[in-house]
Amino acid sequence: MAVTVLNTLLVGLLATGVEAVSNGLALTPPMGWNNWNAFGCDVSEELLLSTAETIINLGLRDLGYQYVVLDDCWQDVNGRDANGKLQPELSRFPNGLKSISDQLHSKGLKYGMYSSAGEMTCARFDGSLDHEVEDAQSFASWGVDFLKYDSCYHMGRIGTPQISFNRFKTMSDALNATGRPILLNLCNWGEDYVHTWGMSIANSWRITGDIYDSFTRPDDLCGCDTTISDPFCIAPGTHCSVLFILNKVAAFADRSIPGGWSDLDMLEVGQGGMTDEEYKAHFALWAALKSPLFLGNDLRDMPASALTIINNPAILALSQDPHGRSVTRVRRDVQGVAKDEWGMGETQVWSGYLQNGDEVVIFLNAGGEDIEMQVTLAEIFIPFGPGGSAPHVKSDWAVHDLWAHRMSEETAEALMAAATDERRAAILKDVNWYNATETPFEEGLRNNDPRLFGEKIGEVKAGGILKAPVTSHAARVFRLRRIAKQGETFKGKSIDRVAKDEL
Ligand SMILES: *[C@@H]1O[C@H](CO)[C@@H](O)[C@H](O)[C@H]1NC(C)=O
Ligand SMILES: *[C@@H]1O[C@H](CO)[C@@H](O)[C@H](O)[C@H]1NC(C)=O
Repeated sequence: MAVTVLNTLLVGLLATGVEAVSNGLALTPPMGWNNWNAFGCDVSEELLLSTAETIINLGLRDLGYQYVVLDDCWQDVNGRDANGKLQPELSRFPNGLKSISDQLHSKGLKYGMYSSAGEMTCARFDGSLDHEVEDAQSFASWGVDFLKYDSCYHMGRIGTPQISFNRFKTMSDALNATGRPILLNLCNWGEDYVHTWGMSIANSWRITGDIYDSFTRPDDLCGCDTTISDPFCIAPGTHCSVLFILNKVAAFADRSIPGGWSDLDMLEVGQGGMTDEEYKAHFALWAALKSPLFLGNDLRDMPASALTIINNPAILALSQDPHGRSVTRVRRDVQGVAKDEWGMGETQVWSGYLQNGDEVVIFLNAGGEDIEMQVTLAEIFIPFGPGGSAPHVKSDWAVHDLWAHRMSEETAEALMAAATDERRAAILKDVNWYNATETPFEEGLRNNDPRLFGEKIGEVKAGGILKAPVTSHAARVFRLRRIAKQGETFKGKSIDRVAKDEL
């Protein structure tokens, strides 16, 4: 019964194109930078503005990284002022917060801030619980565009979906009442079934404890069950690996819709704890799963290899695809997969439909050995009909490798070393780099801009099998493009429309 109701609801949403929370924001997953993973409490105006400068200089703003988010620890240690208003620590923010948002806005960026639906924030500054209206007004008056809203010190107001929903809805309503569109990035780590109600009041909702900079390593501080969604988890924690988070979201990856996204937490790319292949896999999966994409490293001082991961337009086009549906996991193998150094070992295949009828397929090898992975077209297209019944299985598909045209490290190094805007523009122009400010992803995809499609590396025949070698702790990311036969139709429609209309 419950399942039927849910399915009916979902079909209803898909059929009418209804968005989640109705503030008109986050129609594709929001992208930006947040200071927490690299800097923790070491925040300042200088950090935010110099990072903003770097975001622009490296061409990242023009790939969609718009939000510059100030996390916890921005407040004055003495708490609220005499009028009950939150106030910034003036030694760190000498010109106030409005000045920061004005400067970000003048550069075409957006400003994000942080609070908690508790009596204190996680770092024990004043929280917004029972102060939602005045705090929302403060945020609006500072020109804030995005609020990360945490869940520390909630005074016991947790334990049922209704209690948590109401606690967060108070802030959602208060933000709405300010009249300023402010994206709400809810962060209660998956508690109280947030994947069933987050989209009604927020633009994204965190689904696990905090990420840390490890690909598979289990840690007691990330205490909940790793294999299936565990709604009764009592310790979402802080040290969750990439693999842990993927296994957590797998059971409800289909909940995200335009305007409301499952948040897999901020990115660790460039932080130093993972290999290049691990960071590529982390980044591509976060993009294909439609997580908000928040860079978490020090952009002013990063390895060239990190820049060439986060600026890959063919991967970003998965995140920003206008269809707005996450990949889902169509296959997971544990038996017979070699274990890695942490005793973890499994392979996964994720796939999902894209606006233009293409299909993204990701092979993840989270095992200890290099292997060849494979999946049948029948498995890839299970969401359109099990047992090979999906019409897509009868087509031939071209296979495109989306990492094929990654920026070279030489170019990235030259870009980071360039001293003037002119020089940087010349470098990006030389390699014909994608600019989403000029050509939004939706338009680039519609026009088959080759920079969004990687490189064709092979074909899969109708009814066939996609195979590829995948090294240990890596992912391969493919875009399958239907090879249409002339005049091909299904149920009277052009074959390229079938996927869109059927799902
Ligand atoms: C407030 O909510 C209403 C309806 O729920 C919506 O139409 C409006 O755009 C929202 N305003 C803001 C500023 O989010
Ligand atoms: C991208 O295009 C916009 C609009 O044409 C332009 O203002 C901006 O400088 C370009 N960005 C880069 C990095 O070239």
